[in-house]
Amino acid sequence: MEDRDGGSGTDMPGLSRRAVLAGAACGLARPASAAPSAGAAPAAGFGPLGRPSWSADSLQAAAAAKGLLYGCEVPFHRFDTSPPYRQAVARECGLLVCGTEMKMEEVLPAPGRTDFARGDAILRFARANGQRMRGHTLVWHAALPPWVGPLLARANAVQAEDFMRRWIETVAGHYRGQIVAWDVVNEIFGNESDPDRGGGLRDSPWLAAIGPGYVDLAFRILRETDPAAAGTWNEDAVEQGAPWMEAKRTKVLRRLSAMRARGVPIKRFGLQSHLTSTVPIDQGQLRRFLAEIGAMGLGIEITEFDIDDRAFPSDVPTRDRMVADFARRYLDVVLAEPATLDIVSWDIYDPDTWLNDHPFRKRPDGLPQRALPLDARFQRKPVWHAMQRAFREAPDHAAARDKLRRA
Ligand code: XIL
Repeated sequence: MEDRDGGSGTDMPGLSRRAVLAGAACGLARPASAAPSAGAAPAAGFGPLGRPSWSADSLQAAAAAKGLLYGCEVPFHRFDTSPPYRQAVARECGLLVCGTEMKMEEVLPAPGRTDFARGDAILRFARANGQRMRGHTLVWHAALPPWVGPLLARANAVQAEDFMRRWIETVAGHYRGQIVAWDVVNEIFGNESDPDRGGGLRDSPWLAAIGPGYVDLAFRILRETDPAAAGTWNEDAVEQGAPWMEAKRTKVLRRLSAMRARGVPIKRFGLQSHLTSTVPIDQGQLRRFLAEIGAMGLGIEITEFDIDDRAFPSDVPTRDRMVADFARRYLDVVLAEPATLDIVSWDIYDPDTWLNDHPFRKRPDGLPQRALPLDARFQRKPVWHAMQRAFREAPDHAAARDKLRRA
């Protein structure tokens, strides 16, 4: 530690090791609430966990009967402006996650500034309603504020590690004791057209600056900062029957098993589950994948569930039925696995789905996607009913799930 202030050889403006460690350049001065101290009381200001807000006929109630949590992603703009939206989220969910409000892009808008206001508001709402929160996301190649890309590109490995540490301590420290699971790393593996930079890792400014050890390090820093939060590796495109996804699953299992062998404090694997109607679900492949993760002693989370209906017809009743059937085919396998702990849909309200803004996921007929449980009038759709039936008819693994949550 004694040489921490010097000798890095890269005394560039805004990124000397002294500046990084002091947080002066990066806006990452350690807030009082972020100082790690094991066993300390949760940070004040978010309120006590209130009485459950969900209704007896909600998705959360059906999930809870099997030891699961159901919840959704909440975008601040809708949350802030729509009372019926807030009522729907309170009525259906036991678990919330911010879509963008805890990403670095929003929390560190400029050097020297942190902004937790929107994330705090959603967390306070969740606490008042007896709902839990997931954290999304600590280390991702995307959603970096514009000033951080160049900073990482200039940094040597030690400086970049220091920056990552300070960032995780800042955000996970701010929410210490409040978050059931953090997406510690997000989408670290490449997809079909991405080059594999080693063992499945995709290009990322974190990989370039720190090397492949960035993944393990991020889990260790979360563990030191908020030991109560489960560390999750959240990954996309590992759910369906495409051959390249099966190859990706094989690499995921290999890395998970190596991380366990190295003693990395990873607790869960998250399947984003942005399902696409253009690729079939291979139930056998999915079942084997989940069983292998469970056998490693890890929990499983469905973190961003939705169904991109672009291959389904325009007719709404037909499309809704096909979306519901597709969801059920997936959930039946997921819910049969005892290690599955929660199901989070990426929002709950059709008009907000991110799929409509995504260049490759828009429907060819130009109609809005019908990807989520509630329609534009907050009415429960066929996929809502398929989810409720899937929860109700799932085997009861509540005891195994309770045990895993406590592990
Ligand atoms: C999306 C949000 O929903 C959008 O509002 C934002 O503009 C871009 O990011 N995988 C992830 C999420 O891990 O963070 C992404 O969320 C959707 C894909």
